[in-house]
Amino acid sequence: MAEFILPKNSTLTEGKTYKASAEATSVRLFKVYRWDPETGKNPRIDSFEVDMDKCGPMVLDAILKIKNELDPSLTFRRSCREGVCGSCAMNINGKNTLACTKAIDSFADTISIFPLPHLQVIKDLVPDMTHFYAQYASIKPWITTQTPAPADVERLQSHEDRAKLDGLYECVLCACCSTSCPSYWWNSERYLGPAVLLQAYRWLADSRDEHTGARLDDLEDPFKVFRCHTIMNCTDTCPKGLNPAKAIAETKQLLAKRQLG
Ligand code: SF4
Ligand code: SF4
Ligand code: FES
Repeated sequence: MAEFILPKNSTLTEGKTYKASAEATSVRLFKVYRWDPETGKNPRIDSFEVDMDKCGPMVLDAILKIKNELDPSLTFRRSCREGVCGSCAMNINGKNTLACTKAIDSFADTISIFPLPHLQVIKDLVPDMTHFYAQYASIKPWITTQTPAPADVERLQSHEDRAKLDGLYECVLCACCSTSCPSYWWNSERYLGPAVLLQAYRWLADSRDEHTGARLDDLEDPFKVFRCHTIMNCTDTCPKGLNPAKAIAETKQLLAKRQLG
């Protein structure tokens, strides 16, 4: 049987423990992945006891409290704190999600926080999204047309056509889905992954876009779409309740229909 061993410099070590004050009566333990490339040291897990009587209800509230009061060097992304910007995506107790919309009370015990899996880590909870964004740019995520724009109105859409974008436009590009997808883990250089494919379908489904054929030509590739094996991790993990696997299936159908003429 194959045996996999982590390189010495990536094995996790036990880090520091920050105890809550003796007066705290409602304490939760957060174990947080830490790695600073500038130290040359291995990644470690720090343990933080947080007084819940003085903390907001979401995991992001606890992370902010840790940074503000216990360790200012803790590094992570966040902006909107209401599930809209997508920047606070991380792996919380084994599942990718948004820290700002995940309630601490939804977990019974210790909360373990890691960066999104299978991306290079820049520092602590910050993964390198460069390749993900390049893949996003590759699908031309904007409306493309050939006909001249109407003189005095926007390009209009019927209510029915607009409804076809429901479940697609809400995507906040957090990458929770792509980084939970085994096909993306192994083939991320060539497979676009569920987030980018949901976005690609968002433009295929838009009645105002006039380059559906060219968009499908771009996707007609053994790796870009067809590495999806319908494992469904993506849909299971999406913190916005979207269904990237369905968008991928619709795209495959559009590609197949073209082949059949
Ligand atoms: S359904 Fe496709 S995209 Fe979603 S996790 Fe599975 S292989 Fe990945
Ligand atoms: S489909 Fe969901 S999980 Fe994937 S990037 Fe969009 S919001 Fe995030
Ligand atoms: S901070 Fe914007 S989605 Fe969490």
